Amino acid sequence: MCGIIGYVGPQGSDVTSILLDGLSKLEYRGYDSAGIAVLTTAGTLELRRRAGKIAKLVSSVENGSRPNKGSLGIGHTRWATHGRPNDINAHPHPDCTGILTVVHNGIIENYAELRRELTEQGHSFRSETDTEVLSHLIERYYMGEAYAIAVVSSEQPKLIIGARYGGGPLVVGLGENEQFLASDIPAILTHTRRVLIIDEGEIVALRPQSVTISRLDGTPVEREPLTIDWDAQAAEKGGYPHFVLKEIFEQPEALRRALLGRVRQGQLQLTELERMRQAGLLEGIQRIIIVACGTSYHAGLIAKYAIEQWARVPVETITAAEFRYCNPIVGPETLCIAVTQSGETADTLVGIRQAREHGAPVIAVTNVVASAITRLSDAVLYLQAGPEIGVVATKTFISSVTVLYLLGLWLGQQRGKLTAEQVQSLLASLEQVPGQIQQILDRAASTDDVIAPLAKRMARNTSMIFIGRGVGYPTALEGALKLKEISYIHAEGFPAGELKHGSIALLDPDTPLIGVATASHVYEKVVSNIQEVRARDAHIIVVATEGDEVIRQHADDVLYVPATEEIFSPLLASIPLQLFAYHAAVTRECNVDQPRNLAKSVTVE
Ligand code: AGP
Repeated sequence: MCGIIGYVGPQGSDVTSILLDGLSKLEYRGYDSAGIAVLTTAGTLELRRRAGKIAKLVSSVENGSRPNKGSLGIGHTRWATHGRPNDINAHPHPDCTGILTVVHNGIIENYAELRRELTEQGHSFRSETDTEVLSHLIERYYMGEAYAIAVVSSEQPKLIIGARYGGGPLVVGLGENEQFLASDIPAILTHTRRVLIIDEGEIVALRPQSVTISRLDGTPVEREPLTIDWDAQAAEKGGYPHFVLKEIFEQPEALRRALLGRVRQGQLQLTELERMRQAGLLEGIQRIIIVACGTSYHAGLIAKYAIEQWARVPVETITAAEFRYCNPIVGPETLCIAVTQSGETADTLVGIRQAREHGAPVIAVTNVVASAITRLSDAVLYLQAGPEIGVVATKTFISSVTVLYLLGLWLGQQRGKLTAEQVQSLLASLEQVPGQIQQILDRAASTDDVIAPLAKRMARNTSMIFIGRGVGYPTALEGALKLKEISYIHAEGFPAGELKHGSIALLDPDTPLIGVATASHVYEKVVSNIQEVRARDAHIIVVATEGDEVIRQHADDVLYVPATEEIFSPLLASIPLQLFAYHAAVTRECNVDQPRNLAKSVTVE
């Protein structure tokens, strides 16, 4: 879960600035230490490494010894797996000679054994990392593992080698007389929009005038470049104090984009699934398994309610880390849906690979074009949400849920469980939601906002409980996850009916309860669960539907959202919960965009 950047271009280029700028755009991938290596015009490979955020490295370079101009360089921002975050363990890692150096994203699982072997052969190690094994091995000869790497050598001033094998993503940015290598597109958007995606099991050689891709066995690979329609600004904060807040306020637009080209005049078209349908891959589907992690798992839980309701097929949503080791019962009759915004989450990739090996058809729901999950799927439904830089998922959650709703409606129609009129009326409600989210955001941005002041008051608490019923339950889980991730307040989400079976013991005046009690067929039940808690003097906050005056009697604070179909209510109820977590985190002076111990995509197990 690290970020890699590389540049090769004309002699005398300001390689240092290009690398530091690229790393600053990759920091969400890991931010406990960073480093760069620049091959200067004098032919020396200059390394600069610092523990801490990119800013620490930038100031040490600016105030210390800035590498001279040169022709190529690589850089890295780290999320430590082997060896604590410090200057020595930061990448790049040179070999014994200092001639070549490596940056790496992934894990070398058998590094200890290799390290012992190399040490016996006279290699001397400087760091505690698994990565340093690579530079010594490349120094000796080539080997196989889960990695994405970039390697430069002072003896090859016009060449960067990148390779990818089971590890994190790698993209090449095509320039005029210069080329860029990076773990993610936002890092090179300021320089070019023409990119090449490097697939697993491929090696790429970048020279100022050329880029050549080959399989690890040397077979040449031809690939058409993609033109990215995101602009560089998309990777900037746009005047917001944090990417997370910017992305929360982008949700109306993100939701509209998820519907774009799929909902026309009340008609639903998922052309992405046509080839699968024509190939008969969806005939005979008897059950659906949704495989995902974290926030994507919560989106999958909401989809379970929707797809079962509309398509009348049993749906099981399972976390990928459990799925991959539970020897699941899957086959051609099981449709597997992989939900992963980054498209690179290791557990989800391996889980889906296994399902495919058992003949299960796979649909991927992802936000990243040509990401690894897309190559493991029979069809891909892109979120079209634009880049999400904040480590915590907000707009991609709303977009994932929306795309899964469209998939559920499509399956319901295909299976003859929903009439065109029913689909039309549900789509009409769904098309209202972006405007309704805008209403919530406008109020939150106005002087009438009640969410920020409430979050400020509650931020002193160390634990909170979230409850809900039906689709309100995964909404509660997601609300709890957001609060945990960015404010570090302990929070748990429960099915409201479960509370009295034990967890209600946690409630006291210092442990507030947040209840999702929007209009639903189980509303009364949620209210009675809230009343049970009232008796324990816990502070009660409720997300409710506008016009619901009854709930005021049972709660200390009510966060109102507009009315919509019960099944769509998570799209609205999640917004105040995201804003609550955001303001609690700001009040506690947490790093909202880069929370401790987290990274944007979890590319290792
Ligand atoms: C959510 O805020 C977190 N970033 C994390 O739980 C995330 O949802 C999870 O790692 C799955 O990521 P994916 O959607 O890219 O697979």
